[in-house]
Order: sequence, then structure tokens, then C-alpha cells
Amino acid sequence: MALRIVIVGPGRVGTACGIRLRQNGADLLGFVGRHAERTAAAVRTVGAGAVLPPAAVARAHVVLFAVADPDLAAAIAAMREMAPVRRCSLWVHTSGRYDHSVFGDLGERRVGCLHPVAPFADAVSGAAAMVGAPGVYCGEPRALRLLHRLCELLDLQPVPVGALDRGLYHAACALAANGLTALWDIVERAFAAAGLDSSATQLLARELMQRAMAECAARGAVAALSGPVRRGDAATVALHRQRLHGALPAAEQAYTGLMQVALELSRRAGLPAAAAEPVARALADIVPPR
Ligand SMILES: NC(=O)c1ccc[n+]([C@@H]2O[C@H](COP(=O)([O-])OP(=O)(O)OC[C@H]3O[C@@H](n4cnc5c(N)ncnc54)[C@H](OP(=O)(O)O)[C@@H]3O)[C@@H](O)[C@H]2O)c1
Repeated sequence: MALRIVIVGPGRVGTACGIRLRQNGADLLGFVGRHAERTAAAVRTVGAGAVLPPAAVARAHVVLFAVADPDLAAAIAAMREMAPVRRCSLWVHTSGRYDHSVFGDLGERRVGCLHPVAPFADAVSGAAAMVGAPGVYCGEPRALRLLHRLCELLDLQPVPVGALDRGLYHAACALAANGLTALWDIVERAFAAAGLDSSATQLLARELMQRAMAECAARGAVAALSGPVRRGDAATVALHRQRLHGALPAAEQAYTGLMQVALELSRRAGLPAAAAEPVARALADIVPPR
């Protein structure tokens, strides 16, 4: 029997999940949202299901909450109030910040969380990014088989986890996805400010960042590090900070923070203290005006 699923939260992640569930033959009953028109838009994008009242969650085997983190507790409380208990249904949310304890005690219902570890800039690109991405899940023991099955229906790689420091876990996800996006932006702007045209800028940003990531994945960050900090070249580091400070002050701050981490990596890779100290000073100095 196909799993009957209701999605609470017709935003980016909810709509992307709807697209995957539809493509994999789940019985998507539809969406519960706060605004009829935005909920109807999710139904149109997915091409399946309906705009549902909260009481409809009582008919679902799986209720998937995809609401923003600040709204999650209130959305759960509202559904609890309005929907009668369906024995043995699974209530699951997609937040990275919370684990399943955010549901509290739901009695007969099973609870879990399933965090799709992918960027969702919008619903359609998010649905594509989900394919093969990790689905990090945890929950009550009686929920785990269904959570694994839900990963498969969403085209996610199932990654079961135990208790995590969710704040740290979510911070790492934000650094990996949003931090990289922010880094891409300042890299592009620095190349452009240096005088490269937009196609060269894109080419250099893409090739350098992809190759650096491939090295890290293959060899680990300590072995993968290269560049002036790793070589102990304090004069070049000082020049970089001065030029960035003049052209893109926010990029200079990011450069300094990241190169302090690179210096720590360099020490672990064997950079002698006598070479590391001038670099540390070049990173600590007040940047002189241009
Ligand atoms: N974005 C990502 O890259 C990403 C990746 C993985 C996981 N997640 C997690 O997925 C969850 C959803 O994120 P998102 O980016 O999809 O957020 P979003 O685009 O802001 O969508 C959230 C949706 O929830 C609706 N909503 C809020 N309160 C509700 C309630 N009480 N009842 C019904 N619907 C309600 C909102 O309705 P309105 O239209 O009225 O605002 C909106 O449609 C978050 O927990 C987030 O941490 C996000």
C-alpha cells in the first residue's frame, strides 16, 4: 500500500519533498499551510495533492513538517490541537536545528526528524539537489524503519544518527552550504575588482574551489592545504590583507579569519614556529591604509 503523506508547510523544502514523493509514487494527500494561495501554489508546482485543512493530518500515515525553525513548535502545537490521534502514524520534521524531542510526547504517534542535507534555494532546484543527498534521520526506535523508507521515497541517502549537539551540527551544515556560497561571492568580487572579466572570474572561482574541495575530500584538510600561509610567506599575506581592505573590506575580514584557521592547519602540517610566527603577526596587525 502506498504511504499516505501530508506535508505541513508549503515552502521551499515542503514543496521540494512533494515533488520527490510524487515522482516516487507516494500517495501525497496534499499540503497544510497558513495561507490558501501560497498553499495552492505548492499544489500546482507539485502537480498532486490538495490544499488541506489541519484535520486532514488524521488520515495520513506520515505527517511531514517543513516549517521554518522559529515556527516549528507552534505548528506542532496547532496540529496537535486540531487533529485527532491516528494510531501509529509518524510525525516527522525536516529541521536541522531540532531533534525529535521538539514533538514532546505524542502518545500513539511515532516521532522522528529527517534533515535533507542539501541547499534549497527554491523548491524546484531543491527537489533536484535532493537526489542522492544525505537524509540525516533520528527518532524513536519504533520510527526508524519508516524514516529509512521515507528517505528512499525522497531519493535521499539514509544516514541514521544518534543524539547530536544539534546547534553544532546545524552550524556545520550552515558553514558548508551558506559559508561556501558567501565565500564564492567574495571570491568572484575580488577577481572582478582585480580586473578579470565575468567569464574568467566564473571559471577561476569554479575550478579553484572545486579542485580544493576534491583535494580535501581525497586527502584531508591538513594535507590539502597550499598557498602563502602554508609556505610561511608573511609578506604576501600582508599584501593580500592590504589590497582586500582597500577594495572589499568585508572580504578582508573573511580572509583574515579563514587564514587564521589555515595557519593552525599549517602548524599541524609541520610549518616550523619560526616561519609561522611572522604569518601570525601579519594576520594580527592593524591593516595600514592604502
Ligand atoms: N532551506 C534549506 O536549505 C533547508 C535545508 C534543509 C532543511 N531545511 C529545514 O526545512 C524547514 C523548512 O525550511 P524552508 O526553507 O522550506 O522554509 P520556508 O520556505 O520559509 O517554508 C516554510 C513554510 O512553512 C509555512 N508555515 C509556517 N508556520 C506554519 C504553520 N503553523 N502551519 C502550516 N504552515 C506553516 C510557511 O508559510 P507562510 O507561507 O505563511 O510563511 C512556509 O510556507 C526548516 O526547518 C529548515 O531548517 C531547510
